[in-house]
This record gives sequence, C-alpha cells and structure tokens, in this order.
Amino acid sequence: MFEINHQTVLVTGATSGIGQQVAQDYAKKGWNVVACGRNQAKLAELALKFPNIATLAFDITDAKACREALSGLEPCPTLWVLNAGDCEYIDDGVMDAALFRRVITVNVIGLSNCIEAIQDQFTAGHRLAIVGSISSELALPRAEAYGASKAAVKYLAHTLRMDLAAKQVHVSAIFPGFVETPLTDKNNFAMPMIISVEQASKSLIDGLSKGKSNLYFPRRFTSIIRLLGTLPYSWQHALIGRLLKQP
Ligand SMILES: NC(=O)c1ccc[n+]([C@@H]2O[C@H](COP(=O)([O-])OP(=O)(O)OC[C@H]3O[C@@H](n4cnc5c(N)ncnc54)[C@H](OP(=O)(O)O)[C@@H]3O)[C@@H](O)[C@H]2O)c1
Repeated sequence: MFEINHQTVLVTGATSGIGQQVAQDYAKKGWNVVACGRNQAKLAELALKFPNIATLAFDITDAKACREALSGLEPCPTLWVLNAGDCEYIDDGVMDAALFRRVITVNVIGLSNCIEAIQDQFTAGHRLAIVGSISSELALPRAEAYGASKAAVKYLAHTLRMDLAAKQVHVSAIFPGFVETPLTDKNNFAMPMIISVEQASKSLIDGLSKGKSNLYFPRRFTSIIRLLGTLPYSWQHALIGRLLKQP
C-alpha cells in the first residue's frame, strides 16, 4: 500500500539489471516505487517482495499502451527514471536494417512514447532521469545501432532540459560505462572497469539526490572515454581498438 506522504519514483526497465536494482534500492529507502516492464513474472516478484512497489506491465514501443499505463498516476511520481533499453550489435561491419530499427525503436521511440505519456503530469520540482550510455561519447566497434540510439538519447535529454527549464522540471542525463547485467552478459569483448548493478544503482541514486544534471559512472572509465572523445578521430579509432580488444 502506498504511503501518501512518501516520495514516489517511476522506473522503466525495472524487471532486470540496473532498473531492477534501482527500483529495489528506492523501495528500501522508503520511497513508493512504480516498477515498469513487460515481464509480468518479474514484476510480480518485485511487488511480492516490497509492499511499496506497484507495477505496470507494458511495452514502451507501443505508444497507446504507454498512454494507457502511464496516464493519471496516483500518487504522482516526482522522479521519473526512464531506463528501459536494449542493445544489439552489428556483425562484421554488415548493416542489418531490421536490427537497427529494433534498437532505435526501443531506445529512442520507446523513450519518446514514455515521455509523451507522462508529460501532462510534470510539475515544478519534478526530475526526469534519462538513462543513456557512455557509448554516445565515442564511436565503438559494432555499436552502429546502439551507439547511434544512445547519441539520440543524449541529444533528446539535453534538448528537453532546455525546453522544460521554464516549467522548473529538471532533466538528468545518465551515462553508465559497463555494468554487469543480462544486457552485457552476452558481450564477448573486454569490458574494462565493469561495475556491479549495486554500484551502478548507488551512483545513480546518489547523483540524482544531489540534483546532478549529468551523471557519469564508473568515474575513471567514463573519464577515459570522454577524454578519448576529444581526440582526433584517427587517434580515437586506434586507441579504442586496444581498450576493447577480445579477452
Ligand atoms: N549494462 C550496461 O553496461 C549499460 C551501460 C550503459 C547503458 N546502459 C543502459 O541502461 C539501461 C538498462 O540496461 P541493463 O543493462 O539494466 O539492461 P537489462 O538488464 O537487459 O534490462 C533492460 C530492461 O529494459 C526493459 N525493456 C527492454 N525493452 C523493453 C520494451 N520494449 N518495453 C518495456 N521495457 C523494455 C526490460 O524489461 P522487460 O524485458 O520486462 O520488458 C528490462 O527491464 C538501458 O537503457 C541500457 O542501454 C546499460
């Protein structure tokens, strides 16, 4: 049962990985949590474990389903963590347009569906936290689709920050490096300085509680990637190959 005087956070992608940990950690802190995803069994597990977690099952790529699930939430969340996303890689430099469309549809169109569905509920002081990726800062091998989607997410977050400022709605853009989740479990390349979901969730929650506009974690890895991103492209391409070589 939701406590009316407690803060409420909505988390998309709460059935796995970073989002699941973030939802649980906010619940442990006493927040009311609205956990979203498609996996009904995982949502039921969360609701069973935490009385202060309510759940919403919908596919973010379905605009109508987003509107139906997300309109008129009571109590209204003051923090919206839009984290749901997916990753697929291009193989051997061979473009796969269907794969490209799938990744863009979830990571970009799905995100815009969620924002459209919740925007009527934004009021002064609310925070929108949008989970991008450090891959938006540097071209990475095989990440034609994923990197392009996260570059779009970064642009969307930064633009929205300017456009929502007049309503005093804050936008935080989140740039994780590698985090151990089902999404990265399938990677067969080196993932330097990979962190646990617990560490990622702590960085995210701490950063948002401090009102940070841009969150980069883990700090050392994301600083290296951001520094590489400032170098001439020929240097970037040479150095990134070494950083992510097969283990
Ligand atoms: N792990 C990393 O190293 C890393 C690094 C940088 C950025 N990120 C970003 O962090 C976010 C979370 O990633 P993760 O690693 O935690 O991945 P994950 O474990 O695979 O979790 C992805 C979550 O997104 C949800 N989701 C995916 N497609 C959806 C759809 N069509 N409709 C509704 N929900 C959907 C999934 O829920 P259902 O399956 O229940 O729908 C799941 O809860 C993503 O945006 C990812 O790009 C991750």
